[in-house]
Amino acid sequence: MTRITDLGAGTARIPLAEEPVHPSTKDRAQGGRVVLSLRSASLAFGDRTLWSGLDLDVRAGEFIAVLGPNGTGKTSLLKAILGQQRLTQGEVRFLDSPVRHGSRSIGYIPQQKLLDPGTPLRARDLVAFGINGHRWGLPITTAALRAEVDRILESVGADEYADAPVATLSGGEQQRVRVGQAIAGTPRLLLCDEPLLSLDLQHQRAVSELIDRKRRELDTAVVFVTHDVNPILGMVDRVLYLAGGRFRIGAPDEVLQSEVLSDLYGTQVEVLRNRGRVVVLGVPDGFGTHDHDGHHLEEEH
Ligand SMILES: Nc1ncnc2c1ncn2[C@@H]1O[C@H](COP(=O)(O)OP(=O)(O)OP(=O)(O)O)[C@@H](O)[C@H]1O
Ligand SMILES: [Mg+2]
Repeated sequence: MTRITDLGAGTARIPLAEEPVHPSTKDRAQGGRVVLSLRSASLAFGDRTLWSGLDLDVRAGEFIAVLGPNGTGKTSLLKAILGQQRLTQGEVRFLDSPVRHGSRSIGYIPQQKLLDPGTPLRARDLVAFGINGHRWGLPITTAALRAEVDRILESVGADEYADAPVATLSGGEQQRVRVGQAIAGTPRLLLCDEPLLSLDLQHQRAVSELIDRKRRELDTAVVFVTHDVNPILGMVDRVLYLAGGRFRIGAPDEVLQSEVLSDLYGTQVEVLRNRGRVVVLGVPDGFGTHDHDGHHLEEEH
């Protein structure tokens, strides 16, 4: 049985259960270098605490899904990891050092924002920046760079518009180019903020698989914010679920449980599994159950 341990300060955390444990979680929890480490991390704006007492070690090759309603501090967490947002308390370390702004070993897919219509950059320029950023200073021939850019553009299904100005592309097309830019090079950590937003089902699958392949090939750690865990359920080692200033961490089967989420939300919610999909019912108003694009993790039927 899973035990839930209160850590005080309104937070609680699920320790790794004795059984059952997601096998890959167990393997990675034991091996792999710690790439990212948060200790007693808290973030508050004014008197509103988004999360506090967050302890999290993410190991090389580990895939962490960050779930939770709008405004619970998911994007802010990624910004804290990037060194763009100061913590109110605690510490975040990347590869054993305090984070510094602009680390080239972190790939980042920001929450969707359309590019400025005035930008003259083409899709292939953005992907090339991703490669140059990570291999800066190393000799790379123009032909080799071009071949690598082509390979990445093709892998995200963006080869058809490689030479189009990115600002003229649709939201989903721009998103695929941004994914290409983030996975280019050799990131040790990939931070993905709702990378599947605006993508059709085929491209949701393609992009998820691409990120998953990248982490397997390079042992890249992945922190993946999403409102719908279903497209990535088979890849996720652990879930960090934020709600109402509190959080839970554990394997998907441990956290995505009626009892655990009811405790987190402070009201009865029900987690249903239907043909391999997870649906959460009964999330109260005010927890922002819907994202901007109408995908529902928490759905009422
Ligand atoms: N620099 C800031 N100053 C003040 N408040 C901020 C700042 N940055 C974020 N916030 C607030 O913190 C809360 C969390 O924002 P954040 O963008 O992290 O949420 P989120 O979980 O990513 O939500 P969503 O699912 O909508 O993307 C919001 O209420 C936001 O307005
Ligand atoms: Mg966000």
